Amino acid sequence: MSQKVIINSDILKGTINKNIYGHFAEHLGRCIYEGFWVGEDSEINHTNGIRNDVVAALKKLNIPVLRWPGGCFADEYHWKDGVGPRADRKRMVNTHWGGVVENNHFGTHEFMMLCEMLETEPYICGNVGSGTVQEMSEWVEYMTFDGESPMANWRKENGREKAWPLTYFGVGNENWGCGGNMRPEFYADLYRQFQTYVRNYGDNKIFKIAGGANVDDYNWTEVLMREAGWLMDGLSLHYYTIPGDFFKGKGSALDSRESEWYITMKKALHMDELITKHSLIMDKYDPDKRVGMIVDEWGTWFDVEPGTNPGFLYQQNTIRDALVAGLHFHIFQKHNERVQMANIAQTVNVLQAMILTEGEKMILTPTYHVFEMFKVHQDATKLDVDVASNPYEWQGENIPAVSVQASTKDDQIHISFCHVDHKNSTTVQIDVRGYEDKLDQITGRILTAGETNAHNTFENPEQVKPVAYEDFTVNGSQIELRLPPMAVGVLTI
Ligand code: AHR
Repeated sequence: MSQKVIINSDILKGTINKNIYGHFAEHLGRCIYEGFWVGEDSEINHTNGIRNDVVAALKKLNIPVLRWPGGCFADEYHWKDGVGPRADRKRMVNTHWGGVVENNHFGTHEFMMLCEMLETEPYICGNVGSGTVQEMSEWVEYMTFDGESPMANWRKENGREKAWPLTYFGVGNENWGCGGNMRPEFYADLYRQFQTYVRNYGDNKIFKIAGGANVDDYNWTEVLMREAGWLMDGLSLHYYTIPGDFFKGKGSALDSRESEWYITMKKALHMDELITKHSLIMDKYDPDKRVGMIVDEWGTWFDVEPGTNPGFLYQQNTIRDALVAGLHFHIFQKHNERVQMANIAQTVNVLQAMILTEGEKMILTPTYHVFEMFKVHQDATKLDVDVASNPYEWQGENIPAVSVQASTKDDQIHISFCHVDHKNSTTVQIDVRGYEDKLDQITGRILTAGETNAHNTFENPEQVKPVAYEDFTVNGSQIELRLPPMAVGVLTI
């Protein structure tokens, strides 16, 4: 049975904030070191220590915003150890992530340089768990004050004359867990105190993000909004798609069983319920939706690749991850009135990465390709879409087989689709109302695979990549798509 989608091209539903296509890079495993930073003496092609191949690949994604330095690392990071001559920088133990030595060679200046190379906005997460109000306050002064002051002078001595523009600043991370094991009431008070000293210098206006809830901890959102909502611009939410159990075994990234496929899709769709319920609480205290929901950690979390350091969170990435990414973007776009930013965890070599590296080699993952295809939605105007999907069934349960979103920008319409059924092809009738006369100029791209665990390797880097999609016919205002199993793609009209 064919599935039906209606797109009303004249019903506009607001702007899709480009920041939902944001990223997160932590001092974790081989994300920063090896993934981005190889150092000035490296034989790997680099600019001032930052790998050129990774930057070139990421620039094609138009990354709007990059969160750093953590994650759990943020609440034990002391920024002053990461500025000044590299040889003199203090070494520390990265207790959260493998107990390895952190030499602080990648610090504030290197991160800001990376953002400039990527043409992306920095989002810095400060230390509440083990830091002080003064330390956080001075970091903001160091980065953003252009006049005469101890921190601004120190920045200049360290080689940066002008202040950096900085908008997004997080006041701690996961303060219910690795960021201090706090109760929401306690963190709400700390947030009120710390954020007071996150100052706006000159024209620089900081968008302050409070550490938000873990998954379905609705009480955390309630307390934070009640006790500190008026002092924040954003409140975060973290949710990872884990097919198994976080402690007993998350599942393998390369598991090809039907059960793993279905459960992963179902758990990815859970993000919709979480955003809906957290939003309802935020609406109570902020009916005008001034405070953004900032989903600053999301993505798949599997067991690490066999033989790799368990603290490095290195996992492969398959067509299953690609569908998870596509579903998440559709959910974020559906909630565009509240969700102002989302940051996938993490950009390189960690969790649901865009890029995997091995020495000087680099591969693009299926997730990378979804970010690249879907970038057309960034800052576009969302269109009204009504989807009547068939159920995708597995062992007496079901979820919708098809998800569709549409947006318009520069006189074009972009329709993105996800087909999660791993076994059956389908047809989808899309009625693009009000755009009939332009349906003779449609192009498409699709990412699909023959195996549920299809992925790219260093030996075979182009196993999963987008191809031109032409398996559709047009009749009046109707486009009929014939979709293979496990497919994600974009049509441009
Ligand atoms: O992304 C990996 C870790 O997951 C982050 O450091 C932490 O915030 C979360 O628990």
